[in-house]
Amino acid sequence: MSHSQFPYSRPRRLRASENIRRMVSEHSLSANDFIAPLFVMEGEKGKEEITSMPGQFRFTLDLLLKEIDEIQSLGIPSVLLFAKVPDDKKDNKGTEALNPDGLMQVAVRAIKKEFPDLVVMTDVAMDPYSSYGHDGIVEDGQILNDESAELLAKMAVSHAEAGADFAAPSDMMDGRIMLMREALDEMGYHNTGIMAYSAKYASSYYGPFRDALDSAPGFGDKKTYQMDPSNVTEAVKEAISDEQEGADIVMVKPGLPYLDVVRAVKESVHVPVSVYNVSGEYAMIKAAAEKGWLNEEQAMMEALIAFKRAGADLIATYFAKDAARFLRS
Ligand code: PBG
Repeated sequence: MSHSQFPYSRPRRLRASENIRRMVSEHSLSANDFIAPLFVMEGEKGKEEITSMPGQFRFTLDLLLKEIDEIQSLGIPSVLLFAKVPDDKKDNKGTEALNPDGLMQVAVRAIKKEFPDLVVMTDVAMDPYSSYGHDGIVEDGQILNDESAELLAKMAVSHAEAGADFAAPSDMMDGRIMLMREALDEMGYHNTGIMAYSAKYASSYYGPFRDALDSAPGFGDKKTYQMDPSNVTEAVKEAISDEQEGADIVMVKPGLPYLDVVRAVKESVHVPVSVYNVSGEYAMIKAAAEKGWLNEEQAMMEALIAFKRAGADLIATYFAKDAARFLRS
């Protein structure tokens, strides 16, 4: 009998004390891993809690800067910005998205001025600007690919112009990474990166986010561009093609129900892999904790370490501040 088997081997030896557990722990989290998603809205001195995302707010720019100050002081290196666009600025072509004095552009300029070292990522997508709530231009009930991708490339340039460090396209149009890379380079923004939402699924877990931005699709669903939850080979194909088109970071989204996808993508690309711990995942833990059914802090840290175990290098999460605070304590 081998001595690497019971009763000679006793795996519990390595779990016997806090110190031993620390020594053999295979993965760890740090604030360096976190990207904090943030919602900016028009106006001044405003802060609205998002009902389905307790503890998350839409901020006017003045208060957003205060929030970012706190985020930065917790050691979180990066934020991912989303703009809440008023209905009267929405149209089918997402015209407002290219306004050099639009909310996103103004916010990026102000943030980079006050926090030059902060890594500012911007959501590049049409849905907050679209009167249809879709991620592309709509024609006869269809989402146009190439026309939308072209607009997204211009949007990335406009964000780069404002000072964004990374454009983060979340739309899932085909070929948009290549167009975006070329457009950025053409305009001299060689150093602006692209974090591509490469494997983004048509997921019910985005519900609370759509409340936050009031961006739910006005008709139909997003299944003709976002992925089928049953697919993983396709996710690998998407990630590889985004890497080849010039993505600096590829993303899998949502997170917890797709850990196998994170692993498969991690093993297939040679760029960092990020995962988006989306609004619905946040809401589930918050709601269960509010009812006293889960310990919020423990459930949060367990979810976050699961992403590292699956192979994620970076985690976009609404828990960023809470987790960074926990790691400091
Ligand atoms: C849309 C976008 C969505 C999210 C990020 N960008 C929602 C959607 O595709 O409808 C979801 C993020 C979250 O749920 O936290 N471009």
